[in-house]
Amino acid sequence: MEDKKIIFSGVQPSGTLTFGNYLGAIKNWVELQKDYRCIYAMMDLHTITVRQTPADIRRRTLEVLALYIACGIDPEENILFIQSHNPAHAELSWVLGCYTYMGELQRMTQFKDKSSRHAENINAGLFTYPVLMAADILLYQADYVPVGKDQMQHIEICRDIAQRFNAIYGDVFKIPEGMLPKAGANIKSLQDPTKKMSKSDSNPKAYISMTDHPDVIVKKIKSAVTDSEGIIEYREDDETKAGINNLITIMSAVTKRNTDDIVADYSGKGYGDFKNDVAEAVVENIRPIQEEYDKLIADKAYLMNVCSKGADAAKRISQRTLKKVYKKVGFMVE
Ligand code: TYM
Repeated sequence: MEDKKIIFSGVQPSGTLTFGNYLGAIKNWVELQKDYRCIYAMMDLHTITVRQTPADIRRRTLEVLALYIACGIDPEENILFIQSHNPAHAELSWVLGCYTYMGELQRMTQFKDKSSRHAENINAGLFTYPVLMAADILLYQADYVPVGKDQMQHIEICRDIAQRFNAIYGDVFKIPEGMLPKAGANIKSLQDPTKKMSKSDSNPKAYISMTDHPDVIVKKIKSAVTDSEGIIEYREDDETKAGINNLITIMSAVTKRNTDDIVADYSGKGYGDFKNDVAEAVVENIRPIQEEYDKLIADKAYLMNVCSKGADAAKRISQRTLKKVYKKVGFMVE
């Protein structure tokens, strides 16, 4: 039990979880919990890099927790907590920021993307966001970080920071590895399939929310942007097929069948039929999660209890790393 490898990951409660978050990350977490010591958090500190409505963050933090559990993450076997409940994240982030170069942060695609979308609010937090993310991971000496493809660059910089720190002070941090799911690491927007599906998209038709009513899910998938060729074929490098590629990927991730088999099944059939089947498969996948979610979200006391126990465990583990770091850099440790 004790020598199980450690997994850390999390989602920002900056919107309702999407099916992209589920396929890219949470579905994988559920499978990993059997073999690893897993720590999954609601990353609320990260959300304020973009302006938010405070009450929304609070509400969504518990919604995300309820969804983790509803998706199948066992709160008795794993540590589930709210990032801001453990001050060690902000503390280690400060230290690591002093070992991170402006140049490397400037290269982050998420920073470039978010600063162009929020040109009125390019704040220092948005810039140093990957440092806080590195702290999240390194505090727990995580071996693996299961995420979607868009987060891999942040894991790379986390590794660079950890290696740089270790090169100066000895083996303080475990060097973590990113872990992608077999299918679904990069689910695209239903309205612009060249972009990722994002919970903060201004057009709700672009994403499937985990709490969307089944009728809404069906409508969104039926109106997904495809192409005029009308042939169900997976052509990765062909941008005109991005929409259909995305639907095939979703079907593959949900049914655990490979894309070739799916394409073979639909040879000669039209997009209408295919979309109907994708919609049905997605709805059937989400339905039991929603039923469980509805029960959990009604029991706030239970959810608060889960994350309060989780925070205690998270603090205990992370204090060991933080103390070591403080000692190494020269702070007086009590
Ligand atoms: P966030 O909240 O944007 O996304 C949560 C997880 O969902 C994955 N994901 C996707 N996967 C496939 N297709 C998509 N369209 C898609 N959209 C999102 C993300 O890759 C992620 O795994 N910075 C992180 C949160 C974070 C974190 C951490 C993660 C903060 N500290 C430490 C891991 C470890 C983020 O904004 O994820």
